[in-house]
Amino acid sequence: MEQTLVIIKPDGVKRKLTGRIIQRFEDKNLLIKEMYQGIVTEAVAKEHYAHLQDKPFFPDLIAYMTSGPVVFLLLEGTDVIALVRQLLGATNVLNAAAGTIRGDFASSTTENIVHASDSKESAEVEIQRFFSHL
Ligand code: TYD
Repeated sequence: MEQTLVIIKPDGVKRKLTGRIIQRFEDKNLLIKEMYQGIVTEAVAKEHYAHLQDKPFFPDLIAYMTSGPVVFLLLEGTDVIALVRQLLGATNVLNAAAGTIRGDFASSTTENIVHASDSKESAEVEIQRFFSHL
């Protein structure tokens, strides 16, 4: 059994796509264990994306992630980390297939609607980061 962390990013919430994105996870019969709306502070955004701090898009990424409310989800199930990444689609917007969340809703690599943990190691750290208060 695995757990993974999903963030519906500020443009997803602003564009009122929250329900449609959650529907994708429910359609796939994944279990939503916990969920809340909140904000990502600049300090936490920088920590969350520390592995990208030297990239040219880093300032835009931090500005975007802190630009409005987000929705955090904790999903649980067998192979849920890989299953959720499949539902998200590729990071590069040009490679995000139609039928995936990014493929269907995003037209920019930076403003790409959703985040999900990409490994067991990152899931553990990210769940601790955003769900330790529960
Ligand atoms: P990354 O962790 O590589 O991808 P993912 O979100 O699919 O796990 O990158 C984090 C975010 O950084 C990504 O969702 C969007 C942004 N980003 C860009 O804006 N440009 C890029 O070239 C890359 C690789 C990422």
